[in-house]
Amino acid sequence: MSDNTEQEKLWNGSLGEGFIRVESYIDRIVEPISKAAVDTVRAQSEDRILDVGCGCGSTSMTLAKTGATVTGVDISEKMIAQAKAKSKAVTNLSFCTADAAVENFERNYTHVFSRFGVMFFSDPTAAFSNMHSGLVSKGKLTFSCWQGLTENEWIGLSVEAIKPFQSEDAPPPDPRSPGGFAFADKEYVLEILQGAGFSNIEIKPLKATLDMGQSMEEIMSFHCSVGPLAGLLETLDEDSGKEAVEAVKKSIEKRMGNRGLRLAAAAWLVTANAQV
Ligand SMILES: C[S@@+](CC[C@H](N)C(=O)[O-])C[C@H]1O[C@@H](n2cnc3c(N)ncnc32)[C@H](O)[C@@H]1O
Repeated sequence: MSDNTEQEKLWNGSLGEGFIRVESYIDRIVEPISKAAVDTVRAQSEDRILDVGCGCGSTSMTLAKTGATVTGVDISEKMIAQAKAKSKAVTNLSFCTADAAVENFERNYTHVFSRFGVMFFSDPTAAFSNMHSGLVSKGKLTFSCWQGLTENEWIGLSVEAIKPFQSEDAPPPDPRSPGGFAFADKEYVLEILQGAGFSNIEIKPLKATLDMGQSMEEIMSFHCSVGPLAGLLETLDEDSGKEAVEAVKKSIEKRMGNRGLRLAAAAWLVTANAQV
């Protein structure tokens, strides 16, 4: 039985609030990867698409513009409330708060889609198997997930900068534990999808240079709202917190160029078919 209570707490708590705060910035920086993932769906007006871990609903809204009927699901009530508030006038789009790992989906969807929303399950095979149950015959799965931290400078930079502030006694985290980088190993992703009953699985690399902008205030607001620095700040006292923020700021300043901060990113673009 999946237990995603920890993630539910995080995304309904400070992480979800942080995400809402910098939502439009995130949409902007991940646009090259987002566009590739959304375009892969080739949505048509007759499609019924389930957007899993839809967050504040940005990709659900983009997909709905094709005329397809889109349902966004997310474990965070706060983020779903934000998604609903932004899309009141869109009639072919609905949102609901649900744990995609256990929600009883009707076998109704032509596509299951996700932009970075499927790496947070305690039992990924069971979760994908549950999502598979919502797909009609020949239904398709498309999602993006991050490759490893070393390939993702946009966040790896802050991971390196905050190392001196982390407890030396802490055991190294399990790289497959629920989190943004849990699917870095493509063999693991393949294993999960095969175990969940998908076929024609393709996992393609997607590389991009993310334009993080020129505003240090905006960039730091992002790091203080989501990601490793934001998590660390919750555990540090005020003075150490200020030092950690300074350390991240310095590492960013070193990379700031004439065109602002441009950092490497690498994702996997995953597609598969339902075996029904
Ligand atoms: C990195 S955010 C991505 C949000 C959105 N797809 C985007 O690209 O802006 C991950 C999302 O997955 C959601 N999530 C995590 N576990 C989930 C679960 N078990 N069921 C549904 N959503 C989940 C989180 O609440 C969060 O909104």
